[in-house]
Amino acid sequence: MSTDDPDLVLRPPSGKAPTELVGRTLVTEEEIRRRVRELGEQITRDYAGERPLLVAVLRGAYMFLADLSREIDLMVEVDFMAVSSYGNATASSGVVRILKDLDEDLEGRHVIVVEDIIDSGLTLAYLRRNLKNRAAASVEVCALLVREGRQKVDEDLKYVGFELPPDFVVGYGLDASGIFRNLPYIAEYTGSGHD
Ligand code: IMP
Ligand code: MG
Repeated sequence: MSTDDPDLVLRPPSGKAPTELVGRTLVTEEEIRRRVRELGEQITRDYAGERPLLVAVLRGAYMFLADLSREIDLMVEVDFMAVSSYGNATASSGVVRILKDLDEDLEGRHVIVVEDIIDSGLTLAYLRRNLKNRAAASVEVCALLVREGRQKVDEDLKYVGFELPPDFVVGYGLDASGIFRNLPYIAEYTGSGHD
């Protein structure tokens, strides 16, 4: 593998997209920073006096969690869950398998589920049911992105970063076939197949 293969460079000096697979930028680094700060301030106000548990859904939410948690001025704890949907990987089936469960006991805890993107909402609907059954005091959701008009389940989303058009997106934690998670902004993915 050659290290100067242009297709492997994520941030070319020209400021152009890294490869032809990455299209227009939908949310810039600065817009993300500003919005994540606002969400952190809102959570800080809403949970004053509490010690919320931030539950990030791996892997897409890792970067959002890292930034969001630093904008919350409370003694938060963090935990992680990994899930995968059965069947077709490009469209959520709503049947979810837990690949990695939480380490923390949720009883009496104020849980904030930190998600990268809500598409059909089926993954989230499953998670919410599952976490509520563990006797959490409350379960709310903080999603960086919500794809407009796609939700099959009417979910109550307390904190939302940005609403997006139908394009498949990559960057800031979101991947296509495992790559582009470390792009610092969110861009349209212009390749075919992305699972
Ligand atoms: P849902 O169950 O249909 O809401 O699926 C949500 C999950 O699908 C997200 O947590 C992502 O892992 C994945 N996903 C949905 N849309 C995108 C996208 O545009 N880029 C990357 N991953 C996505
Ligand atoms: Mg995800």
